[in-house]
Amino acid sequence: MKASGFGLNEAIAVAQSSGQSAAIAPAQTLPAVEMKPVSMTVNGRSIGPVTVPEQIMLIDFLHEYLGLTGSRLGCGQGVCHACVVILDNADGTSEEVRSCITSAQFFDGRKIRTIEGHATRDAHSGNATLSPIQQKFLEHFSFQCGYCTPGFVNSTTVLIERLKRHPIERSALEETISQALDAHLCRCTGYVRYYEAVKELVLDTPGLVKGSE
Ligand code: FES
Ligand code: FES
Repeated sequence: MKASGFGLNEAIAVAQSSGQSAAIAPAQTLPAVEMKPVSMTVNGRSIGPVTVPEQIMLIDFLHEYLGLTGSRLGCGQGVCHACVVILDNADGTSEEVRSCITSAQFFDGRKIRTIEGHATRDAHSGNATLSPIQQKFLEHFSFQCGYCTPGFVNSTTVLIERLKRHPIERSALEETISQALDAHLCRCTGYVRYYEAVKELVLDTPGLVKGSE
């Protein structure tokens, strides 16, 4: 049965009967999407190989292929840092990477952590335990809508891990935190509560500030 409404032939007939010429655009051929397998470790879990469009960004891979939707798409242009994930390097260092402008293929064979990898869940009770960073943000009411929070959690994690390797002088603390969080945009809270939470966490964690052990 034909659906109600005009089809192409009807539209041409109407146009011709009304004296208009029916301008029909030539068919366009869309470029073929190249597909390529990708494998990576996400939050300690081995993934792949999964065949994906070669140009797919990591955030879309996480959302659409793995169902990990905690990484937030904000600007989509590398500006807001809401989409930041953690890349674990082979030398034991970690770094932030913006998943909206970095292709999934970049992470082939590499290890990443996303916001879903921070809290732990007790197998028997089902209760979740937040990471110290998440807990501190909660205690400080650092976020409102929470859209930017995964990025802040990941960047703070990278900061803490860097300070474990390279403790800083107390006098450098404020500047160090500002530099670590500076690129992250938050439209709700004005940053102060994030900043205060990170500062408290750094000072509470032994070994991050020289002389605080
Ligand atoms: S969504 Fe990636 S930087 Fe804004
Ligand atoms: S808490 Fe809403 S954008 Fe940061």
